[in-house]
Amino acid sequence: MQAHQQNKDFYWQQVREAAAYVKDGIGAAKAGIGIITGTGLSESMVDMEPAAQIPYDRIPHFPASTVRGHAGRLIFGQIHGRRVFVMQGRFHLYEGYSAPRVCFPVRLMQALGVENLIVTNAAGGLCTDFSAGDIMAISDHINLTGENPLVGPNNEDWGIRFPDMSAVYDAGLMDRAMQAAQKSGIHLHKGVYAGLKGPSLETPAELRFLRQIGADAVGLSTVMEVIAAAHARMRICGFSMITNIADPDHPEPATLEAIIQTAQKSAPVLGELLSGIVKEV
Ligand code: HPA
Repeated sequence: MQAHQQNKDFYWQQVREAAAYVKDGIGAAKAGIGIITGTGLSESMVDMEPAAQIPYDRIPHFPASTVRGHAGRLIFGQIHGRRVFVMQGRFHLYEGYSAPRVCFPVRLMQALGVENLIVTNAAGGLCTDFSAGDIMAISDHINLTGENPLVGPNNEDWGIRFPDMSAVYDAGLMDRAMQAAQKSGIHLHKGVYAGLKGPSLETPAELRFLRQIGADAVGLSTVMEVIAAAHARMRICGFSMITNIADPDHPEPATLEAIIQTAQKSAPVLGELLSGIVKEV
């Protein structure tokens, strides 16, 4: 057997073992909805009634969160009577994890039967209409990481070789998000998220380039997970919390502290929005 095939088999075996551990911990209950929370957004799920919490470091083969602002635990519980898995904290390419490792939580959710995925992130706003603290529903993305989690042998049991990416962010979920936002009096933008590898942030010339290619927000996460989730045929929706304005004409240093602070401040608003969507899924 080829080494890369062996690596992939090893990966899927690890996902199955992690899923078996989680199933054991939650009494084999199922959840159709998975949520991944971004930097500083771990506490956004205000309406959640947790039934079980599992720290990431107890789940076999699970990567370890190395970034501040990421809680590092899996919560199983209910929001408005709907069962959900919430991954509080994610993994990034810039931490040195490979693309498949970054997607391990998504594959775990796939193995657990999750069919709807909601992803959130902290992002820099490129659109001149945006202000810090605003929320953008992701209508599409641009993967500028130079990586793809599907590189290598394909496991047909998990998804097809060339997954369609023409409508990754589900229009129905987007409509519900817009309705939930309206009901809660939240102004929700729509836009394109550009995913970079980082960890260095963008130069003004790079910000200008990102605007020109049609990006409205920029961040260092999400695109790998969404590609894996598309491969898994999940219905996907995503939200960017605009934590800072990335303006090439008035460049300002963005610090992790400020990003986390803004994200934490606006996290309850995002939580309200997510609750509204979960209710309707
Ligand atoms: N750039 C990249 N990632 C980010 C930013 C940014 O300005 N803000 C929050 N995450």
